Amino acid sequence: MTTRTKILGTGSFVPEKVLTNKDLETMIDTSDEWITTRTGIKERHIAQDGENNSDLAVKAARAALEMAQVEPEELDLIIVGTLTPDMPMPSVACLVQHALGARKAGAMDVSATCSGFLYSLSVADKFVRCSPDMKILVIGSEVLSRRTNWQDRTTCVLFADGAGAAVVSGSQGDEGIVSTHLHADGSLWELLTIRGHGTAYPLDGKKGCQYIEMQGRDVFKHAVKALESVAFEAVDASGWTMEELDLLIAHQANIRILEHLRERLSLPKDKVFINIHKYGNTSAASIPIALDEANRQGRLRPGDKLLMISFGGGFTWAGVTVKW
Ligand code: COA
Repeated sequence: MTTRTKILGTGSFVPEKVLTNKDLETMIDTSDEWITTRTGIKERHIAQDGENNSDLAVKAARAALEMAQVEPEELDLIIVGTLTPDMPMPSVACLVQHALGARKAGAMDVSATCSGFLYSLSVADKFVRCSPDMKILVIGSEVLSRRTNWQDRTTCVLFADGAGAAVVSGSQGDEGIVSTHLHADGSLWELLTIRGHGTAYPLDGKKGCQYIEMQGRDVFKHAVKALESVAFEAVDASGWTMEELDLLIAHQANIRILEHLRERLSLPKDKVFINIHKYGNTSAASIPIALDEANRQGRLRPGDKLLMISFGGGFTWAGVTVKW
């Protein structure tokens, strides 16, 4: 029996402060009705001043470690998927390593935008397959509110803050990660980007460039196509059929993308996990927050077939199947 990478525990955390669509109506020219019908979002969580990406990541991590019954000192590696680190150097993973007291763990960030968690989980999977005793903490964490132009109604209603985490290690049973699939197309980078604070775009660059810039309609079209394609690719590679799937956790970017996907994959409503109404688009945090909620709600039973798929700026997209 080959080693599989088992998810031993999950955790998540969102900031206390809630920003509703009604609140946004007082800030910009928008309406609860427009945001709800076009995106499915009703409210989102926003970090307070002084509450940073690594703070959210640590809280999600502690919850995952507790569920996994793994002590920070036992961790061999910490991987954080994020596009909104506290600072360019050090990585969020190093700050988490210090805060947890994970003395023997290596630490690194993975930059893959909204696919950051699935990319990170895939990296962890390869380590565990080589060294089954390794215990790895995988996190997706974002503070997108500080990269959002709050005057731009086409983006500020979408993005938000939060963190999710999973602890993984080797298993000799057949439960665990079955297949991982990573993709990218850098030719389309300008459709969804944050230029500012990168070394090609110095801090005194053009106004607004520290914020998310997005061609929403184009992103929508590419997202739907890529998510559908990677879903079939991952399910086929696992030797499963779409009908056998027990749960789909897709990146929570837009309810219309999720509904479109559900139709294309011919999945019943109860097999598609949705929490976008509560959190908005939290980028790399979206899938691990959903995974943790699904797990804690008892939506995943031993032996269940789980598919997770993501899409984001870059473009990047990814799919991971798990036998729970
Ligand atoms: N409130 C009210 N009206 C708004 C608005 C808002 N927050 N944002 C845009 N509008 C207006 C536009 O100005 C436009 O007005 P016009 O027709 O007078 O020009 C109208 O609504 C339609 O805009 P459009 O951009 O065509 O809407 P859409 O149906 O494409 O929805 C998005 C916009 C952003 C919700 C949608 O394109 C989307 O979700 N794209 C994918 C984004 C995404 O998921 N990105 C992250 C990927 S990880």
